[in-house]
Amino acid sequence: MTDATSQRYNTARLEADADGISRAAEILLAGETVAFPTETVYGLGADATQPQAVARIFEAKNRPSFNPLIVHVPDLEAASRWVDLPDWAEALATAFWPGALTLALPKKTALPDIVTAGHDTLAIRIPATQVAQQLLRAVGRPVAAPSANPSGRVSPTTADHVLDGLEGRIAAVLDDGRCAVGVESTIIGGPEPTLLRPGGVAVEAIEQVLGRSIARQARTDDAAPLVPGQLTSHYAPDAPVRLNATKARPGEILLGFGAIAGERTLSASGDLVEAAATLFALLRELDGVGKPIAVAPIPLDGLGAAINDRLQRAAAPRG
Ligand code: TXA
Ligand code: MG
Repeated sequence: MTDATSQRYNTARLEADADGISRAAEILLAGETVAFPTETVYGLGADATQPQAVARIFEAKNRPSFNPLIVHVPDLEAASRWVDLPDWAEALATAFWPGALTLALPKKTALPDIVTAGHDTLAIRIPATQVAQQLLRAVGRPVAAPSANPSGRVSPTTADHVLDGLEGRIAAVLDDGRCAVGVESTIIGGPEPTLLRPGGVAVEAIEQVLGRSIARQARTDDAAPLVPGQLTSHYAPDAPVRLNATKARPGEILLGFGAIAGERTLSASGDLVEAAATLFALLRELDGVGKPIAVAPIPLDGLGAAINDRLQRAAAPRG
């Protein structure tokens, strides 16, 4: 990427009021990228019907173009226009949409290939925040959006995080404060429901709705990941990260949880929802200190699965 390409934009920070939302919709319809808040993380949106607009996402993120994107729509009616929902998917949609769940389902109506990277399934989600809902309705078209971070970095949970990574590379960011959930959506694919990525909806809650346990797709090989977000070191801070630490070793800085207090603590009361919501912001903050990061053990149940997944990637050796 040349400097000329990366500094094309005077990135606008738009307030998430009626004016800001309609300005954001105009920019999207004009084929440019806008970062917008969802309940999980900020997404970098583009009109999914315009291949050139979607290409700008990859350019801004410096993302390998084989990665398929999640398409965002405002309601189930819009979702049914783009994908076929088998019974299990309809049950999950009814239970968890709008919300932190993405379904990868057979495509029904063609979108540009660049959106799905040649897959015959489309990943689709209805985000829950008012701002995302209003934006999607104003655009009136499906919006493709990966997390709004340069490829390989932790996902942004505030507009400042977005600007940290993408200022000058995107047209605008719609600022609605901090994301409530803080980790990305749970991804379920088919043909039989299969967990492709743990995320903001606990897999236990999904299994409860379906009345049966579902397959967890084994962590894929880094060389040929089925879900490229599964690249082992995908969510990497610059600092080395050591997991399951009960205390900091000399020179380390500790990210605590529950009874283990650190320089920063994910949740002093051991609340996994609070821990998910603060995870990326605290990783960023500690990464800025310039010391190796030790992280206290986090339980694996509920949102702990998604938190541990992201932490393992943060701690993985860099390729
Ligand atoms: O919470 C979220 O999911 C956020 C917000 C913005 O919605 N988005 C997000 O997108 O995390 P991204 O691109 O960072 O991660 C999307 C993941 C990638 O790992 C991608 O490979 C996978 O979804 N994916 C996309 N389409 C797929 C498909 N058809 N089948 C399987 N996986 C797919
Ligand atoms: Mg991402």
